[in-house]
Parts: sequence; structure tokens; C-alpha cells
Amino acid sequence: MPRRIGVLCSGGDAPGMNACVRAVVRAGHAAGFEVLGVKRGYAGLLDGDAEALSSRAVGGLLRHGGTEIMTARSAQFMTEAGQRQAIQRMQELGMEGLVVLGGDGSTRGAIALKDLGAHVVVIPATIDNDMAATEMSLGVDTALNTIIDAVDKIKDTASSLQRGFVVEVMGRNCGYLALMAAIAGGAELVVLPEIPLEPDRITRELEDALSRGKPHFIVIVAEGAKPTAAEVAEIIGQAGADREYQARLTVLGHVQRGGTPSAFDRLLASRMGAHAVELLASGQHGRMVVWRQGRVASCTLEEALEAKRPDWHDLYALADVLSS
Ligand code: F6P
Repeated sequence: MPRRIGVLCSGGDAPGMNACVRAVVRAGHAAGFEVLGVKRGYAGLLDGDAEALSSRAVGGLLRHGGTEIMTARSAQFMTEAGQRQAIQRMQELGMEGLVVLGGDGSTRGAIALKDLGAHVVVIPATIDNDMAATEMSLGVDTALNTIIDAVDKIKDTASSLQRGFVVEVMGRNCGYLALMAAIAGGAELVVLPEIPLEPDRITRELEDALSRGKPHFIVIVAEGAKPTAAEVAEIIGQAGADREYQARLTVLGHVQRGGTPSAFDRLLASRMGAHAVELLASGQHGRMVVWRQGRVASCTLEEALEAKRPDWHDLYALADVLSS
């Protein structure tokens, strides 16, 4: 029997997952492995739902959003019984190693499998960019481009009608997408979960923008931030009520998770996928593939979960300076 590894996607999908599965399959073949695509993440692993992927089967995947082998969040896998069952399935399927594409929850699952003896490598894939061990996770760049495209369009209508606009972006409790979108999209204000907002900052910035003749007032609010996007829109509406200045709220939602991956995400996916195979082939496991200073590297799964997010005060200050 050929040596076998598996690949699965877990948790929220991210643009570039398909490109990464393709890379794992093709680099896997080059390293002498048969590669099983496990359907629906850890849930599919529990069911033994996996099939060998040929190089042809992953043809054309590079440019597709979502994930062809599908993903899931599995409550059953989070139990010890579920994890033991997953190990048993891996043995039945003859898998000597597993590549997991996912975020922090998926990494915790991978650690559980590793602790039970499985050879696991994680590739960080989440649009949130909330795993500090890697400078970039798969899908972040594409999601950011989607947000910028939306903000550019919102600015057109905001300027035309001289309105305030609040745009809520994803990121659960991580403000990376919001902060980068504020800088790259030219927002007047950004609200992050990590940096408290002074109580009167919104009205002050609004007055300031209006006094400088700005036709729009764009605030990007991260999901999980306080005040929430809806609250910010209300504050702007109240502050502008006496001069008929209105605010509108746009929640970008799951639009941010879809779409064809950017060139950067395709490259990152290809390089990370190939590196994961290299790690397994050379007997290095229990590791996460990371992107640091323009290079692919790796760290232990525990280090990946313990890494602290960088302090973003300098970029937060930059967003403020550039919004003048
Ligand atoms: O973790 C990725 C993410 O898109 C978060 O930004 C968001 O909070 C969450 O997933 C949404 O999850 P669901 O798709 O289950 O609604």
C-alpha cells in the first residue's frame, strides 16, 4: 500500500483553501504519498468520509473560492470520545499524517489528535488573521480586497448624498481586517475590539470631518467591538439630526468569506501546502506552517496558540493621521 496522508478543511471557509488542497495533493504525490481528501472537516473524519484525490481531481481548483472538499464545525469531535474515534478512522484509512486547514479552534482539535499520537500539521486558514504566530493566514488578503472594494463603492454613495456610513467587517474578536481596511480604504474612523474608543470620539471626529468639508464620514467597525456598528450608526444619526445628516449601516457579513482567491492567497496557499507535505515527509509534525518576514516557516501547535497579537497602536495612529 502507498504511504498515505489526508487533508481536511475545518471551521469557517477561507479563500485559498482550494488552492492549498491542490498544493498538498500535488506536492504529496511528488513526495510519494497518496493524498486522501477528507470531506466536511473533522465531522467527515469521524465518518471516515475520505477519498484519494488525483492530480486531475484538483485541476482548476486554484482559482475557486470556498472549499471543494467542504468544511464543518463538529461538536462531536470536540469530545474525547470523538477524538479517539477520529484516531481510529485515521488508522482504518491508513493515514500516517494529516494536514488540517483552519483557525484556532481547528488547531485545538489538531493538538488533541497529536496528543493521541497522530502526525498532524496545521495550515492557518481564516480570514480573521487572529493567529499571531503567522503574519498572514490563508484568505485574509482576499477578504481585505473584498472589503476595500465594498468601502470604495460605499464612499461613492456616501459622498453623493453626504452621509455617514458605518461598515461592519468580520474578524470575530480580532480587529486586523477592520484596521487594515480603514488604512487601505481611507476611513475616517475605525473601532476595534483591542483598542477602547474614547466616549466622545465619534461625535468629535464627525464634527471635525464636516468642518473640513468632507462629503462622507466612513467608520469601519470590527465585529465584536464596543460600541457595535449599529450603536455607532445611531450615535452619528443623533449627532447629525439637527442638520439632517444621516447615517447608514452596512454589515458586509459572509460576502467577505467568498470569492476567487487573490494572487497573494494563491501563492501563500501553494507554498504553505507544499511546506506542510515537506514537514510530514521529514517526520516533523505537531506543527503549524507560518508566514514570517516573507518566508514560509513553522512552529509548534502550542506556540501557535500561545502567540500574542502585535500591538496595533502605531497602525491605529496612522489610520487617524491619514484620515485628516
Ligand atoms: O472565523 C471566521 C469567521 O468568518 C468570523 O470572522 C466570523 O465571526 C465567523 O467566522 C462567522 O461564523 P459563521 O460562518 O458560523 O457564521
